[in-house]
Amino acid sequence: MNNHYPFELPPLRYSYHALEPYINTQTVTLHYEKHFKSYVDNLNRALEHYPAYQAWPLERLIRQNCRLPFQIQTSVWHNAGGVFNHGMYFNTLGKPVSDNNAAWESGSFLHAAAACYGSGKAFFNRLKECAMAQFGSGWAWVVSDRRGKIRIMNTPNQDTPITCGFCPVIALDVWEHAYYLQYQNRREEYVDAFFHILDPHAVEQNYLTCTSPHLSHNAAPQGKSNS
Ligand SMILES: [Fe+2]
Repeated sequence: MNNHYPFELPPLRYSYHALEPYINTQTVTLHYEKHFKSYVDNLNRALEHYPAYQAWPLERLIRQNCRLPFQIQTSVWHNAGGVFNHGMYFNTLGKPVSDNNAAWESGSFLHAAAACYGSGKAFFNRLKECAMAQFGSGWAWVVSDRRGKIRIMNTPNQDTPITCGFCPVIALDVWEHAYYLQYQNRREEYVDAFFHILDPHAVEQNYLTCTSPHLSHNAAPQGKSNS
């Protein structure tokens, strides 16, 4: 997979129906094949006539957006953000299991989150509040600093937390296109469903990557590997 132009739609590591009943097949298919793909295509289109920037990795296009020619700054900002954010989102979801408490408990992430928010339950409640509070289109995030301290935050549109120096661990898409087909305007039901398909192993991997002493400032996890 290229991490520079021409960008490609990364493979989904589960089938379109794997997230049923929490996110139905039609929603996953449209979200992935249409919305996610449009960010990839539009990013490539923006860079098509600017070879000087075609070797830039995705994260650099976001972090150093102001160094791009003004003609493509806005398009690259929104579409590179869309590619980055949706990569995080889809790679941190997984097939629901009946009881994944043991998986959450066995990792370091939930313990770190509980240390910051009082308990695991309080952490998830706060993340839900954050997702519900996002006005209009945007994202709720769980991010980490390099010392492993957890923080919950929002970004509007396709903005990403990496521009604030944070390393993303969980990306919760609260654009209506992520849930409207199934849940209409009932965002709260979608957010509750999201927690059932959040893969604790992928979250743990992201957290370990964020806190790795080998992680450079220019790196960020992109979710669980497809390998
Ligand atoms: Fe989305």
